[in-house]
Amino acid sequence: MSNQQSTINQKLFIVFEGIDSSGKTTQAELLKKYFLATKEQAVISPEPSNGIIGNLIRQALKQRIVFSRERDLFDQQMAYLFAADRHDHLYNDLDGVFKLIRDNYHVISTRYYFSSLAYNCDSVEQFDLIKKLNDRFPNPDLTIYIDLPIEVSLSRLQERSLQEIYETKTKLTKVRKQYQQIFAEYDGKAIAIDGTQDLQQIHASVVQAVQAVISERN
Ligand code: TMP
Repeated sequence: MSNQQSTINQKLFIVFEGIDSSGKTTQAELLKKYFLATKEQAVISPEPSNGIIGNLIRQALKQRIVFSRERDLFDQQMAYLFAADRHDHLYNDLDGVFKLIRDNYHVISTRYYFSSLAYNCDSVEQFDLIKKLNDRFPNPDLTIYIDLPIEVSLSRLQERSLQEIYETKTKLTKVRKQYQQIFAEYDGKAIAIDGTQDLQQIHASVVQAVQAVISERN
């Protein structure tokens, strides 16, 4: 892929990736608190986003809207929607990632284009389509992949009341494999963390990685 690094000033665009219930949101919140404690402004901005396309996607994931019952077609439709949502998430003038960075906020996103590569393709053809759809999106300044065994993810998911379309053992097994391959080949800045560790241990590794990126800049 030809994605370029995003850096436009000192503020960071940081992404958490991982299978469902791997702890992305919890770690994003801890990182935000860390920034606030160091007198830096920070926001959490998820994908699917809180915008119109993001909300449409959430309805489809809960199967309240059905685009196609054919699985390959459904994945393709989702891939287009996720790419449109990502464009809006990055570039909208109200609360887009780059607007926030210009306004001096660190932006912490739970999920980004790696999720499309990991979740929305089952074949080489689909993988190529998704690569093309996401080719022009910039790489984050740092990506943190939280790796979690499927059994742990599934037992955490069982505690939730409503399950989404991708939250099955077969799907998550494929997704985890895809993630491991994506990050083995990725040439941007990324770290992988064992998601079975204690929350604070994970947080300490996250902070260490963030500090390393900041000191490389200075
Ligand atoms: P969430 O559980 O992090 O809110 O994400 C909702 C679902 O969206 C999750 O199952 C992963 C899926 N997803 C994709 O399939 N492709 C994407 O590009 C993104 C951002 C999320």
